[in-house]
Amino acid sequence: MLEHETILAGLKNLPAAPLVLVRILMIMDDPKTGSNELIEAVELDPGVTANVLRMCNSTYYAGTRQLSTLQEAVHRLGMRTIQQMVTMRESESLLGGAHEGYGLAAGDLWRHSVSTALACRLLAHRVGYPRVSVAFTGGLLHDLGKIVLDVFLRKRYQEVRARVEQGATFQDAEREVFGVEHADLGARIAEKWGFPESLMRAMRYHHQPEEADGDNDLCALVHLGDSLSHWLGVGLGRPGLANRFAASAVRMFSLQPEDLDRILIELVEKFEETEQSLAA
Ligand SMILES: [Fe+2]
Ligand SMILES: [Fe+2]
Repeated sequence: MLEHETILAGLKNLPAAPLVLVRILMIMDDPKTGSNELIEAVELDPGVTANVLRMCNSTYYAGTRQLSTLQEAVHRLGMRTIQQMVTMRESESLLGGAHEGYGLAAGDLWRHSVSTALACRLLAHRVGYPRVSVAFTGGLLHDLGKIVLDVFLRKRYQEVRARVEQGATFQDAEREVFGVEHADLGARIAEKWGFPESLMRAMRYHHQPEEADGDNDLCALVHLGDSLSHWLGVGLGRPGLANRFAASAVRMFSLQPEDLDRILIELVEKFEETEQSLAA
């Protein structure tokens, strides 16, 4: 069997989708749902509930009184913040491990994903993109395909590296060596796990937002968020800066270079705050 067929066949052996994560993604995607549905979904998993309450009571978020229920947390911090906390916590179990093929130590891919999510949120506010939590989650899950390709990359990294040294982007080198790149694989995982269509497309086109037909605002936002996260330099591993930057995504939102500079400065601050609240 050709290697790319082996890789795609391996998708069948993925574990079941994290239940709470999928429920939260569907709630975010449906404007008719509200805080009751959110609370019911989170309460399905007592571990997630405890984690979220711990974050809410961390120095960064805490008010004068400790929160002891999700209802209180949603009331004080708002539905959007709680949604983002849950997806951040849930994604840790997927992305938190080491990914040696990519040269990533334990926690590196997750930190890159969290910083991309924060960048997407800042960008969404800056350009007036209304679905802020969806943009945040697109950033969080954009590189999910790396968890599958990593195993294969461990064996054939030198071939990928040779192509990058000749000027290819890391993802083009992946495609040349394996016949598939991590963005395609991420979208296939999203499809298998029943993620919303818009999120699946953002994962597929996060390197080439101009190739997404139809409404590609979300794809362009996730692309820019990923680029900002690369400039921040968090959890890059072997791909380093061998990343393509699509100027079309900047033009789409009429952003100026100084807008990106300003968002990058805010991102540094937000990332530090978030790391502190996650460590609580
Ligand atoms: Fe990527
Ligand atoms: Fe990325």
